[in-house]
Amino acid sequence: VIDVRKLYAETGYFTYDPGFTSTGSCESEITYIDGDEGILLHRGYRIEDLAENCTFMEVAYLLLRGELPNQQEKEDFEQTITYHTMVHEQLLNFYRGFRRDAHPMAVMVGVVGALSSFYHDSTDITDPKQRMIASHRLIAKMPTIAAMAYKYSVGQPFIYPRNDLSYAEDFLHMTFSVPAEQYKISPTVARAMDRIFILHADHEQNASTSTVRIAGSSGANPFACIAAGISCLWGPAHGGANEAVLNMLAEIGHKDNIPKFIEKAKDKNDPFRLMGFGHRVYKNIDPRATVLKKSADEVLAELGVDDPLLELAQELEQIARNDDYFVERKLFPNVDFYSGIILKAIGFPTSMFTVLFALARTVGWVAQWNEMITDPSQKIGRPRQLYKGNTELPFTPIDKR
Ligand code: ACO
Repeated sequence: VIDVRKLYAETGYFTYDPGFTSTGSCESEITYIDGDEGILLHRGYRIEDLAENCTFMEVAYLLLRGELPNQQEKEDFEQTITYHTMVHEQLLNFYRGFRRDAHPMAVMVGVVGALSSFYHDSTDITDPKQRMIASHRLIAKMPTIAAMAYKYSVGQPFIYPRNDLSYAEDFLHMTFSVPAEQYKISPTVARAMDRIFILHADHEQNASTSTVRIAGSSGANPFACIAAGISCLWGPAHGGANEAVLNMLAEIGHKDNIPKFIEKAKDKNDPFRLMGFGHRVYKNIDPRATVLKKSADEVLAELGVDDPLLELAQELEQIARNDDYFVERKLFPNVDFYSGIILKAIGFPTSMFTVLFALARTVGWVAQWNEMITDPSQKIGRPRQLYKGNTELPFTPIDKR
């Protein structure tokens, strides 16, 4: 590791690194990835162990506070989060301003950003207590806001949170219950939902997390910073990939068409890429994809869903994993490859997939935001550039141009 900050101070040299492929922007104690080995650790714990043995609330506590909670701490944390699940009634008016057919991610960007207007004066980011309250509010309100985005899009009344349910159960309830009928929550589905949240909770300095950190580095309101993260996550090269995977599988349609799409993905003149494949950091299978593949089998069996897309996805994975192009470039399935199939089986429309990612990633964003604020070496994020434009020109008055 070269300390470029020191090099710059001494020589004026800076690095040119578009896409930050080899630039570390911060020190962090939250998440570790070994991309070659396919290892992901949160605060030292393997993601597979956390997904198998913990609830999302325990993982949220771990990311935010640095250690796993004991039973009492877990209950206190759950109670704190539950306390903040309601949104202000005035926020309901905000939804009504959106077009009915708006993409729910567009609604999320707007509504989460709007939270800053509700808590603008009470968010002193230099005060750890206020930072923690803002973090709790964000974690607690995201499921409510996300479920409301869904309800708005299908024209159903908003369903209020229920404090007797777990985080994942409450989200399912707010999304799928209707006033006349409570949604029957299957423990397998609730567990799969919780696991999806765990697997998406944090992933060190990815594009959206870096966006949150950069926005936060100017001292901006935390709700506005998270809205910035949601905007970044939306893109198909990042969180939008889970939605893109299902659209792609639908487009492929039948396993006989797979070779044609594989060739398209390899053709450099064709913008098509195999969605759900490849990762900036993992050059091995994404450990989250392995957990999700297993979870997909369980959920589909429990719900009795016989989804031809799962079969198609498995076939596509097999063919791609034996193809030289993908092998040489170390392009393996990533977390988005199987999550969409589970979410579809539970009943979410594809447009909600990235919203669920944002909901879960909020935990990572607030943990990273807190870490950034308390790191004395952090300065405002301000990359340099390699200027390629004109050198100085004599000014031309408008009548001479
Ligand atoms: N299909 C076909 N070719 C691919 C794919 C793909 N999915 N991904 C990468 N490649 C190729 C590139 O064309 C490039 O080939 P080349 O060396 O012949 O030019 C090589 O593999 C390296 O790819 P880069 O684009 O340089 O890798 P980068 O690290 O910049 O991109 C990314 C990573 C954005 C994830 C990319 O693999 C991709 O677009 N994947 C599909 C979208 C996706 O699934 N995104 C989700 C990522 S995970 C997440 O955000 C949670």
